[in-house]
Amino acid sequence: MSSVPVIKAALLGAGTVGGGVCQILEWQKDEMPRKLGTSVELKKILVRDKTRKREGIDSSLLTDDWKEILEDPEIQIVIEVMGGIEPARTYILEALRAGKNVVTANKDLLAEYGQELLDTAEEEKRDLMFEAAVAGGIPIIRPLKQCLAANHISEVMGIVNGTTNYILTRMTADHMEFSDALALATELGYAEADPTADIEGYDAARKVAILASIAFNSRVTFPDVYTEGITKITAADIRYAAELDMVIKLLGAARNTEDGIEVGVYPMLIPSTHPLATVNDAFNAVFVHGDAVDDAMFLGRGAGKLPTGSAVVGDVFEIARNIQAGCTGKISCTCYKNLPVKPAEEMRNRYFLRLSVDDRPGVLAGIASVFGNNNVSISQVIQKNVSDGTAELVVITDQVVERHFRDALLVIKEMSMVKEIPSVLRVYG
Ligand code: NAP
Ligand code: HSE
Repeated sequence: MSSVPVIKAALLGAGTVGGGVCQILEWQKDEMPRKLGTSVELKKILVRDKTRKREGIDSSLLTDDWKEILEDPEIQIVIEVMGGIEPARTYILEALRAGKNVVTANKDLLAEYGQELLDTAEEEKRDLMFEAAVAGGIPIIRPLKQCLAANHISEVMGIVNGTTNYILTRMTADHMEFSDALALATELGYAEADPTADIEGYDAARKVAILASIAFNSRVTFPDVYTEGITKITAADIRYAAELDMVIKLLGAARNTEDGIEVGVYPMLIPSTHPLATVNDAFNAVFVHGDAVDDAMFLGRGAGKLPTGSAVVGDVFEIARNIQAGCTGKISCTCYKNLPVKPAEEMRNRYFLRLSVDDRPGVLAGIASVFGNNNVSISQVIQKNVSDGTAELVVITDQVVERHFRDALLVIKEMSMVKEIPSVLRVYG
């Protein structure tokens, strides 16, 4: 075969994802010339500790000096898989300003500094790609930016955190309590030593900020996302959901409404017939509604060495093609609108409220009247577990403004007949 040009790349980070990238580039070595009309080779790999042996990594490529990469004119693609905000942000900005193209898997960085990074890429006419930053191996960034560009997208909603989906699946399928399911997720390596970002919903919030920005062509950042985690979900909530023919999932949900973007991450009851209800274990899925395409769902593995490496290397190949064609930077920032993001109190949702109350006449009527006085319309009431003068009530509302629901809740909490409110959850629809 005739020789093809070789494009040199540098990897920043040789951990889980970096290791996957090295392995996939090796697997693809023979096919690259025919697939791309070029070949991509790693020239340097940046790590903190270059003396440590790393399986599957060519130790002769290791460096702990960023300048060796930045100042090497032969390196045209920088692949950032270090994580964290700094020095990743500075390195990416410097790489772009030095005329290099960048691939990153760093959702923490993109969810806060995406605008700055994309503006710089645009100024420099270079590519900045980040398919792996949301839902790991699932193609969703390029589908939203390119394949679905003909749509006005009104909703994007997803299970974008594998750890919490695994925990909720165990709570549903094996009737575990939250703490036992978290311990199992940790034992199996799904949850990190410090699982806070996963179980409190922050990881999902970063991903949904990126998704909403791209889907609605308007910048949404991490602090814009109203976030609740799954730490308060109990086996009893899961049982009630099942009785209503629903399941509880941690959803990142964004809607493009007439008066602004509604965006949040919270545990939500969804009908067991909804496509997202069947996404179990550590799988991720993103559901999109567009005016032309109607409903579409993307499903797969949201994390791990090879699935995430697959998305990163896919971006590297796309950049290699663009370099060959002389058209890097052809798709820059797609946030050309400036839509308001609604405060949480103004968002509309349906609610599930579970209360322990005195089992006596007038209690239900009293609670219903507080809801009515606050513009909260009730769609369903279930009474359960009557014992020792206590009844358990489950109230499901219609879609209501969050502020009205919160106002009603403040009054209900103070009612003498209300003993406890063990859970308040959102309901899809
Ligand atoms: P990781 O296993 O902790 O690896 C991080 C690597 O970066 C290590 O090799 C580390 O070097 C290197 N590094 C960190 N800070 C550095 C610095 N200041 N200078 C030089 N090297 C530095 O992380 P990971 O799981 O691969 O994740 C990498 C990125 O991918 C993160 O942004 C993460 O959010 C994203 N991501 C990960 C997954 C996943 O499944 N893991 C999925 C989607 C996205 P040493 O080895 O010398 O310490
Ligand atoms: N911690 C994430 C998850 C993977 O559990 O889905 C990295 O984005």
